[in-house]
Amino acid sequence: MRRLVVVSNRVADLSKTTQSGGLAVGLADSLKSRGGVWVGWDGARASDAEAPLEPRTQTFGDVTSVTIPLTEEDYQEYYLGFSNSVLWPLFHYRLDLVEYRTAFMEGYRRVNAKFADALTPLLRPDDLVWVHDYHLLPLAAELRKRGCRQRTGFFLHIPFPSPDILAAVPRHRWLVESLLEFDVIGFQTHTDLGNLHRYAEDHLGIALADESTLRFRDRTVVTGCFPIGIDVDAFVAMAETPVEAVQIEQMRRKILGRKQIIGVDRLDYTKGLPDRLRAFERLLELYPDMRKTVALMQIATPTRQDVDAYAEIRAELEALSGKINGRFADFNWTPVRYIHRAVPREALAALFRASQVGFVTPLRDGMNLVAKEYVAAQDPDDPGVLVLSKFAGAAEDLREALIVNPYDVDDMARSLHRGLTMARDERQERQAALMRRIRRHDAKAWLDGFLAAMEDDAAAA
Ligand code: G6P
Repeated sequence: MRRLVVVSNRVADLSKTTQSGGLAVGLADSLKSRGGVWVGWDGARASDAEAPLEPRTQTFGDVTSVTIPLTEEDYQEYYLGFSNSVLWPLFHYRLDLVEYRTAFMEGYRRVNAKFADALTPLLRPDDLVWVHDYHLLPLAAELRKRGCRQRTGFFLHIPFPSPDILAAVPRHRWLVESLLEFDVIGFQTHTDLGNLHRYAEDHLGIALADESTLRFRDRTVVTGCFPIGIDVDAFVAMAETPVEAVQIEQMRRKILGRKQIIGVDRLDYTKGLPDRLRAFERLLELYPDMRKTVALMQIATPTRQDVDAYAEIRAELEALSGKINGRFADFNWTPVRYIHRAVPREALAALFRASQVGFVTPLRDGMNLVAKEYVAAQDPDDPGVLVLSKFAGAAEDLREALIVNPYDVDDMARSLHRGLTMARDERQERQAALMRRIRRHDAKAWLDGFLAAMEDDAAAA
C-alpha cells in the first residue's frame, strides 16, 4: 500500500486516543490504519525574533506528525489575512466582507512555500500527497517547483464560488492555475465542481476532456465530487449513551409539554445565525400557541476571534437573543438559550436526540456535518425533523429534510412550525430515508472514494 501524506492547515492531536470527532478523526483513523504522515500547523505562534524555526516531528504508532511553526507575521497575513479575510468570505459569496491587501497575498505565498520546503525532504517517490482546504491552494505548484513528482490530491471543504465571484479577487487566475497543478481535485457538491469547470472554460479557455478530466499544461487533472460524511455508527452510539444533565432537562420539558429546536455552529457569519434567531422570533409572532411550548437552544462555538467580522457577528447575536428574550420570556420560560462556548461532543449528540427540530440554516456551507449528525442522533421511533438551508452542501443529498431559504425569515418560521407539528409517521418516513443517505455518503465512502481516485495513476497518462 502506498504511503499517505496528509497536509492541512491544522493537524489533529494524534496523542489523544479519544478525540472530538469530525474530519480530524476520520483522517486520523485512516492514517492510523494505513500508516502515514500528517503535516500542518500546530496552532501556535512564535515571535519573529525566535526565527528561524524548524518543523517538529513526532511519532504515534505508524503515524508521523510534522508541525510547521508560523510566525506572528505568517499568522496575520496567511491565516487571518488571505485565508480568512479573503478566501473564506469570497468562497462563501460574501464579497462585502473581503479585505484584500497585497501583504496578505504575499504572506499566503510565503507560507505555502514554507509548507513545501518542509514537505519536500520527507517525500518518498510513490507517496500519495493529499492536501486539504483553501489555505493550501498553491501547494502542489510549490511542490512541483521543487521537483516533486508524487501524485497529489486536493480536497476543498468549503464551497467553490461561481466564476464571477471568484474573479473579484486579484490574481484569481494565478490561484486557479496553481490549483490545477494537483492531479486530483475534489469538491463537496456538483455545484462546486461545475463552478471550477466553468471558470476553466471561461477564464482559461480549457474545455473538459471528458465529464471529469481537464488537460492542463500537458497533464491530466481529474476533478470530482466527493461529499464528506460522518461515522454514522459511532455517532448513533454516542447519541444512545445517556448524558445525565441532558436527560433531566428532557424529562422536565416532557412534563411541561415543551419542545426544543437546536442549532449548533461555529460562530461564523456564514452560518445565517441572525436570521435564524429572527425566524424563531417570527414563529412566536405568527403562531402565538407556540409561545411557552417551544424554545430555541443555539450553541455557537467561538472561532477566529481576531478577525473583526467575527467580533461583529458575536455582538449582533448577543443583542438579538437578548431582544427576543426581553420581548417574549416569562418568569417560567426562556425562549432563546444562547451558549457561546464549545460543548463536548457526547453532550451534543444527546442534545440532538432530545430536540424535536434540528435547525441548520447557513447562508453558504461546503457540506455541514451538523445536519448529518442531527439525523444520526435521532430515535427512529420518535425522530425529530431537520430544517435545512438550500445553500448547505448537504441539501444536494438530504432531500427529505424540510429545505428552506435562509434569507426568507417567514419561510423558515413556517417550516419550523411544520416540523414541530409533523405527524409521527411522516417523521419516521423522512428519518429512514435520511439515514439511508447519510450511510451511503459516510466518512468511509468519502475517504475510500478520494483515495481510489488518487491511486488511479492510469488516469494520469
Ligand atoms: C472550516 C474549515 C476548516 C477549518 C475549520 C475551523 O471547517 O473548512 O479548514 O479548520 O473551519 O476553522 P479554524 O480557522 O479554526 O481552523
